[in-house]
Amino acid sequence: MAKNFIIANWKMSLGHEQTLDLVDQIVQQIQPSDKTEIVVCPSFISLVAVAPKIANSGIKLGAQDCFWHDEGAFTGEVSPLNLKEIGCDYVIVGHSERRGYLNETDAMVRQKVKAALENNLVPIICVGETLEQRQSSSKDFIIMQQVNKALAGIELTAQNQLIIAYEPVWVIGSGQAVEPSEAEHTTQVIRQVLLDYFPLEVINKRIHLLYGGSVNPLNIREFLSQPTIVGALVGGASLEAKIFWQLIKALE
Ligand code: PGA
Repeated sequence: MAKNFIIANWKMSLGHEQTLDLVDQIVQQIQPSDKTEIVVCPSFISLVAVAPKIANSGIKLGAQDCFWHDEGAFTGEVSPLNLKEIGCDYVIVGHSERRGYLNETDAMVRQKVKAALENNLVPIICVGETLEQRQSSSKDFIIMQQVNKALAGIELTAQNQLIIAYEPVWVIGSGQAVEPSEAEHTTQVIRQVLLDYFPLEVINKRIHLLYGGSVNPLNIREFLSQPTIVGALVGGASLEAKIFWQLIKALE
């Protein structure tokens, strides 16, 4: 059976000490199983300190962003090579908050995806429509365009994996997720686009489709019981060890 993914995106919500406390609690309470891959994505400043804390726990480390070059004169940016070096296996790319607040474009997202894959990081590509785009009935088109632009010319080696998270921008942090059946429709649209790029076997084995946006312990099961959704990218509900634990329990 394919693995489920629960990926915690802690955004800029916690201080460094709070992050370390949360990691300690999570490591004590949560035993990842063969069934579920658990990934925590603290802010950059906490990555180095979190890595040894989770080293023998089975929990994986992810960053919230990366740059598209491995080294050089790029003030303030963070190298995917260095992320790998300190123990990251995953990196979130193109989150709507970066697209929105920092004008991150599809072209930048594509370069980051490429750089992440070259460093054997699993890119977690976020795609999603705004409320305005949804109301103008262009949701599926927007999603297809984002996926196409993120993947143009991208090749996967035998080691590479890829995650695409469908995150409707307007439900992130709202407490109100979309209907699981609607998320499933969108992940099927994404899967359709993937067929233009990769063989079916690669899609089935190495590309994982997630939903994100107000996932909580009460709704996670229904999302993950949809045919093409194998995981959740979780913000708010991953900030307390007890609730995070409930998310994982809900899948058992
Ligand atoms: P949320 O955030 O779970 O708080 O809605 C999800 C995300 O932004 O990835």
